[in-house]
Amino acid sequence: DSLKKVYKKEFYIGAAINDKIITGKNKKALEVLKREFNTISPENVMKWEEVHPSPDTFYFEMADKYVALGKENNMFVIGHTLLWHSQIGPWMNTVNDSATMANYIRDHITTVASRYSGKIDGWDVVNEALNEDGSLRESVFLKVMGERYLEVAFKLAEKADPSAELYYNDYNMWKPKKREGAIRLIENLQKSGAKINGVGMQAHWGLTEPSLEEVENSIVAYAKLGLKVSITELDVTVLPNPWGLEGAEIGQNYEESEEMNPYPNALPDSVEVQLAQRYKDIFKLFLKHSDKIDRVTFWGVNDQSSWLNNWPITNRTNYPLLFDRKFEAKKAYQAVMELK
Ligand code: XIL
Repeated sequence: DSLKKVYKKEFYIGAAINDKIITGKNKKALEVLKREFNTISPENVMKWEEVHPSPDTFYFEMADKYVALGKENNMFVIGHTLLWHSQIGPWMNTVNDSATMANYIRDHITTVASRYSGKIDGWDVVNEALNEDGSLRESVFLKVMGERYLEVAFKLAEKADPSAELYYNDYNMWKPKKREGAIRLIENLQKSGAKINGVGMQAHWGLTEPSLEEVENSIVAYAKLGLKVSITELDVTVLPNPWGLEGAEIGQNYEESEEMNPYPNALPDSVEVQLAQRYKDIFKLFLKHSDKIDRVTFWGVNDQSSWLNNWPITNRTNYPLLFDRKFEAKKAYQAVMELK
């Protein structure tokens, strides 16, 4: 049995994939991907800095391979992401008049989305446009173009690829204030006549936070807007949060720190069990709302490739996914399978 088979009636089950999987260099990961998952997201290869590194240069080799892999394996293929303040073409940060910015955005979205028109099933059109309090993030897009950049992005995406579903994607979408902001943003898009089909809740979560009650409130609230809800970047960190800790520094190497990297060799059984329970609770909630949830995508295939080994601080050993470093199914995998 596999995740995708067991959850076939409820929702797609996906994973974000990196260049080693896309090129087939990571054979084991590719094997697990094909066996367990029926939707993919590009962890990095479709981001602006990758496909459009300078104003007149586009690079599509990896993105093309990514899409081809999805199509060959009959997967639901996600594009991630057309407009995001991070991992953007570096020159974009220095653009300071709105006509020039609008031109670059049009060129970018039109070129990328039309290249894959009819092949990408859903695009994360805009990523992370909100602050934690629900206000709009002071990104370069907002500063230079004002709020209308949101509507512009969605309308360009629709024009370039009319058949793709279009999504708004962000993290901490369970937080009440951020939820209110997301609802405002989506309603404004809907009023403007832009097409929006779904909302992506990233779901970079922990063993105790967020509360599933707030997650549930958000799933219900977004579905009420007439949108499909997707869980787009699921992982559950088991490591201490370095923020707020005296002397902790982003970018500092914490490999040797017992406090910050407590499980360098293996995850103790007790935490393994806790992680399994957490995943069980999470999936139980997803099952309860399977009429609203379209897709559940993990941010990586196995613990080895997870970005959480290097974020928010580098060189730690994290265990956030369902497959371990040897690609064996973990207790958390069994827990998710046993629910059905
Ligand atoms: C992350 C990738 O996993 C890393 O490899 C990269 O260095 C930084 O970006 N929100 C998103 C994703 O929408 O694109 C991010 O992916 C994780 C947070």
